[in-house]
Parts: sequence; structure tokens; C-alpha cells
Amino acid sequence: MVEFELNGETQNLDVALDTPLLWVLRDNLKLTGTKFGCGVGLCGACTVHLDGQAVRSCSLPISAIEGRRVATIESLGGDHPLQRAWIEHNVPQCGYCQSGQIMSAAALLATNNTPNDEEVRNSMSGNICRCGTYNKIRKAIQSAASEGVKTFDPDDVGRTGDGSTLEEIA
Ligand code: FES
Ligand code: FES
Repeated sequence: MVEFELNGETQNLDVALDTPLLWVLRDNLKLTGTKFGCGVGLCGACTVHLDGQAVRSCSLPISAIEGRRVATIESLGGDHPLQRAWIEHNVPQCGYCQSGQIMSAAALLATNNTPNDEEVRNSMSGNICRCGTYNKIRKAIQSAASEGVKTFDPDDVGRTGDGSTLEEIA
């Protein structure tokens, strides 16, 4: 049995302890926004947050997240400043890598909401896009950052400003 917090809600799951977090999210919990790419920690398609840090869920056994906080792309709710910027800049092509890209960008902006170009490039360098959307990704990140607000707070994952959860208002 593993207990952890996922998008603001406690989960208790009876799964093999060596199961990668990615497959627990997709197969057990049906959260399919997080994607499988390489499966070996090299492409970033499976990026989620663990205690506010961007991590590769394909390479993280579920045993490693006991008592910790996980956030997936679903926690952003669809109207997050980064998601709005992604639409404004027409970032996705096939779209496959984009949830991982956005979660890496969200982790960056949580700690640095005025990143310069080099900081954006460094933070996003582990996320591969076969469609070559890198320029648009960087523009969208700067656009979201230019709103001048903290665009992502790991402690607020799954919660709205009034303390209710995203599920409660869905
Ligand atoms: S699928 Fe996890 S890094 Fe590629
Ligand atoms: S949009 Fe196709 S892989 Fe990134």
C-alpha cells in the first residue's frame, strides 16, 4: 500500500512498489494527460511535479512517493496562465510532448517568474519536442511570466483561491 497526495487529494493504492508513477497515473488513476515517450527519463513527456519539483514519472517507482505530493497536468485546470499562453502562441503541433513541457515550465515559474532566455532554455532543455516547437514554447513561457504574477504555487495544486478543490467546483 502506498499513500501520497495527488493534485490535492490523498490516494491510497495497492500496487506493486516498483511500478513507475507514470503507469499508476495512467492505468490505475486514469489520468492520461501525462504521456509515455522514451520510458527511460530522456524525453520529458512524462513530467509531473513531486513536492513542487519537475520529475520524470516514467523513471520513478511508486515506492519513492510515499507521503509526498504529486501534481499532474490535470492540476492546472485548463485555464492556467501557461495554458492560456500556449493557446495564444499556437504552441502545439502533434501535442504529444506538451503536457510535459507545460509542467516543466510551471516548475520553472514557481521559483522564477522573471526568467531570462538562458534560464528558460536551461530549464526546458530536458523536454524534447519532435515537432520542433521550441521557439513557440519559449515565447509562451515569457508571455505567461510577463503577467507579473506567480503563475504556479506547488502548495496550491488542486485547490482554488477559496480553498475548495478543483474537483469540488467541476
Ligand atoms: S517518457 Fe519519461 S522521460 Fe521520456
Ligand atoms: S508538439 Fe509534437 S512532439 Fe512536441
